[in-house]
Amino acid sequence: MTVQRSPQFIILICGVFLSNCEVIDLGAGTSYTEFRNIQNQESELVWVKGRMGGVIGLFESTNISSLVFEVVIGGYANSRSMLRVISRGGDKATTYDTQFLLNPNQYTPFWIKWTSSTVYLRPGTMDNNGPVLEWTRGDTVSVRYMAFRTGSTSAVKYMMNLSCSKTNIEI
Ligand SMILES: *[C@@H]1O[C@H](CO)[C@@H](O)[C@H](O)[C@H]1NC(C)=O
Ligand SMILES: *[C@@H]1O[C@H](CO)[C@@H](O)[C@H](O)[C@H]1NC(C)=O
Repeated sequence: MTVQRSPQFIILICGVFLSNCEVIDLGAGTSYTEFRNIQNQESELVWVKGRMGGVIGLFESTNISSLVFEVVIGGYANSRSMLRVISRGGDKATTYDTQFLLNPNQYTPFWIKWTSSTVYLRPGTMDNNGPVLEWTRGDTVSVRYMAFRTGSTSAVKYMMNLSCSKTNIEI
């Protein structure tokens, strides 16, 4: 009698490994993609690399029209970062602090933190000190998904787990 390992078993192991080591590599002008379930989180450390326009959306569902917060890092040709509640809509909070801008040659870390009414953007790997950009909505929302797009005609890469991509960090 021969015992064969099922293909499903192999795929499951690979899937778990890849989900820890994913680099989200988006080309120019992409719409929201790579929806991640963040229901049990209140923050996420995201490493972003690109010339301009890294955009991270927080959603109530995986439907793009359920966007509740939009974080734009290095918007307007990498001159400022903004928080929005409508995609490509009015900027509710803006910072020109250069610590909030992107670097095309290395991944830059940003903490994105949220509650049911407020979103916070903080440069660096610490979520409890340093400069912060924040915006509070007038209503209460459920933040359940995070997704990514590019804000311009420039490609952007996103990574959630730094230990996964040592050859690509260039810090
Ligand atoms: C990062 O990736 C490594 C290698 O796959 C894994 O061991 C580790 O648990 C991951 N960390 C997180 C926070 O996902
Ligand atoms: C997404 O939400 C909009 C507005 O509520 C709705 O019109 C649309 O059908 C939804 N799309 C999907 C795929 O559910």
